[in-house]
Amino acid sequence: MGWGSAGTGPAAWLPAAQRSATLVPDSPVPAIQSWARALPGTPQQAGAARHFVADLLKGSPLRDDAVMVLSELFTNAVVHTDSGKPGGLVTVQVSRWRGGVRIAVTDQGSPRVPVICTPTACEPAESGNGLFMVSCLASQLDWHDDASGRTICAILGKVPHDHPAVRLATPSWAWRS
Ligand SMILES: Nc1ncnc2c1ncn2[C@@H]1O[C@H](COP(=O)(O)OP(=O)(O)O)[C@@H](O)[C@H]1O
Ligand SMILES: [Mg+2]
Repeated sequence: MGWGSAGTGPAAWLPAAQRSATLVPDSPVPAIQSWARALPGTPQQAGAARHFVADLLKGSPLRDDAVMVLSELFTNAVVHTDSGKPGGLVTVQVSRWRGGVRIAVTDQGSPRVPVICTPTACEPAESGNGLFMVSCLASQLDWHDDASGRTICAILGKVPHDHPAVRLATPSWAWRS
């Protein structure tokens, strides 16, 4: 199945208009394709989330890193936020364009905030280094709260500057390599 085409793959869960955000070929901004899927916030769903991302990123050199990033962000949503409570949901968004990929994970909120713990900044017993690892793989990492919850976004590879599909209103913090 090609990107954004109708079929039985992950993209088929979304209405046609949302399946592909591909822009006209001679547009000055890069063509971006996006997909989203909501999953129950349980550890067992991490595998389904990984498959969703891996399928959509077939052929991309950033695929393995993107799956690793998704895995960390999905696990954090389950472990640290209300998405991990009974009935909770985690929404995974995947976007790809020439040279880059965006993984965004939306959870249902938490009194905590995401913190990048460098190996020296946090006690090992207190916290892991999942977000630190994500920050090492990502060109850009940020998060924001809105009506849909808290979204943590990682861009891998080339950042399409000033594109509406990846622009954030006001990130709470942003990290760039
Ligand atoms: N989605 C999230 N919502 C709220 N807090 C988060 C979220 N993700 C991570 N955090 C906070 O950031 C800390 C660092 O996350 P991480 O580096 O993944 O380590 P770990 O998950 O092993 O604690 C977590 O301990 C948690 O307090
Ligand atoms: Mg973690």
